[in-house]
This record gives sequence, structure tokens and C-alpha cells, in this order.
Amino acid sequence: MSEAAAQFSPRVFSGIQPSGGLTLGNYLGAIRRFVDMQNDGIETIYCMVDLHAITVWQDPEALRRNTRELAAGYIASGLDPAKSILFNQSQVVEHTQLAWIFNCVARMGWMQRMTQWKDKAGKNQQNASLGLFAYPALMAADILVYHATHVPVGEDQKQHVELTRDIAIKFNHDFKTDFFPITEPVIEGTATRVMSLRDGSKKMSKSDPSDMSRINMTDDADAISSKIRKARTDPDALPSEVAGLAERPEARNLVNIYAALSDTDLAGALKDVGGKQFAEFKPMLADLAVAKLSPISSEMARLMQAPEEIDRILADGAGRARAIAAPILKRTYEIVGMVGA
Ligand code: TRP
Repeated sequence: MSEAAAQFSPRVFSGIQPSGGLTLGNYLGAIRRFVDMQNDGIETIYCMVDLHAITVWQDPEALRRNTRELAAGYIASGLDPAKSILFNQSQVVEHTQLAWIFNCVARMGWMQRMTQWKDKAGKNQQNASLGLFAYPALMAADILVYHATHVPVGEDQKQHVELTRDIAIKFNHDFKTDFFPITEPVIEGTATRVMSLRDGSKKMSKSDPSDMSRINMTDDADAISSKIRKARTDPDALPSEVAGLAERPEARNLVNIYAALSDTDLAGALKDVGGKQFAEFKPMLADLAVAKLSPISSEMARLMQAPEEIDRILADGAGRARAIAAPILKRTYEIVGMVGA
């Protein structure tokens, strides 16, 4: 932990976009990690960032459904609403209020350098929403409205966490304070990066046109099993050493999934399965994936039938989140010079 973060008690915050379609990649890369952190005895706050989602068009019914489905995915995966705070962003107004302050701290040039902005806006930046441009300032507000010290994110979000640090530094400097912590990103390891079942060089993605390329968290046992059995592979047996996977992206991916689902690494997995042909390994992997994932997908299905249960958890989470955020926003307003704060 950096010196700057040391004066703040450790608090984990992360945001997840409710834009639909949870995959095994999300589970192994993010959800499981978030659930583990909750059990490390640190305060953990997880937010479904519906306000970020609408920086690009979202159908209202789909957004509602996707927000509940994401919550269901977390809860079914072991996120304990008694240990972690789970809520959706729009229900804690302090996020948008602090975001406005940060819009006035961040510089146009900082935003223009963001690679996600450049990628998402594409060639026609004039036609992108103003919200998409300001996205990183809202993300900084998400984090700093809780004085979060640690933010687990994927590699693609590292730049946004660095911008959050720049905003905190500039705010602290401009107002001669040390009110905001300098947050640390906690980047996921490549070990948890799950690739497409059809092409081992592409990340498993909800937006791949082929449903066979991914395992969805809502897939039932038959679907999980058949996708693994039909996954692309090469003709050779599995190697006994990790080095033997170097030029074999599909084989590496399947062994990696096996390793992650059995809480070991590639070397550990190869102790079990090295030397086996795919005809023998694939059914083993399919059984393991079904054993680990189908209880989650059935619990998700149950929760989706009980949306009022999900909504109750989110409302409770929003209340607890506000209890932390409101005094931090109030103090920010005072520092900035707002009368009545
Ligand atoms: N931008 C993040 C993503 O797309 C989501 C996000 C929003 C986030 N606010 C956050 C992540 C705050 C971490 C902390 O994945």
C-alpha cells in the first residue's frame, strides 16, 4: 500500500457495468475475485454502474433486467450482502454530485487521452454522448465518494484508475488539502483471462456472434457440457509441462479454465491432466465446469424469479452506501466553498 493510502483505512470499491450477458470470463476474472476479497476481512463495496451503462444507448427494459441479472450473478456466486455492500449507482445520488465537482477538476486534455473514449467514440466523436466523454470523472467519483483505497479492475480500466489518482491529486493540490486518497488499482492477473472457445487468441466475450465461443453464467448443465466438448482444440495430447502450451492457445485456454475452476495454476492442472488426449480431458473439464457453475446458474434463475428479493438487497446496499458517501460529499462541498453544505 502506498504512503498516501496508508492514512485511510483499506476499503475496496469496484463497479461493474450492467450491460448484459455474464460469461465464465466475468466469473473467473472479476466476480470470483470480488467475492474472495469480501472474505479477506476488508470493507468491500460493489456497485452496478447503471449511470455508466447509459453513456451508450440502453433499452430501458433490458437495463432493468441486466441490472437485476448482474446482482443475481454476484449473489449466486457467493457475494454476501451482509459482508459486502451491493447496490446500483443511480440510487446513491452522491456519485453524480461528486462527479460534477470532478468535471470541474479534470481537464479536457486528460479525457481526450483516454483510450476507452477513443475506442468507444470511434471516428465520429461529435456524435458520442457528452456522458461518454465525462465517463472517467464519474468513475473517479464512484471510487472517491467512499475514499476507496483499492480498486480491483481489468487491465483495460487501469488508465481510468490512474485518472482517478490525477483527479485526487489535483483536487488536493488546488484546495490545499489531503482529503482524497490516492487509490491503488489492483489489476487482475493473466491467469484469470478466459479466451474464446472458438479462437484461443480472442478474449471470451458476450458480444462474440457465436454463442459457442462462450459459457454464459445462465447456461444449464447441457449447454456448458456441449460447448466444452465442441471447443476448438488441436490434435495433440496435453503436455506435461507449462512450456508445452506456449504455441497452443486453445489447449492453454482449456487447461487454464480447468486450473481456475480447481483453484490451482497451469502447472498444478497439468499434474492432473498432462499427457491426456482431448477425448479424455474434455469430459473431465465439462464435469468440473458443470459441478462448479450449474449451482450458480440455478440460483441465478431462482433469484430472477424473485426480483423483489434482489431489489430489497440493492435498496439495503444503497442505504449503507449513502451512509458512507453523504458525509464525504458534504465535506467536499465545504472544501469547495458551497454555502449551506
Ligand atoms: N469502467 C468500469 C468498466 O467498464 C466500470 C466502473 C465504473 C468501475 N465505475 C467504476 C470500475 C469504479 C471500478 C471502479 O469495467
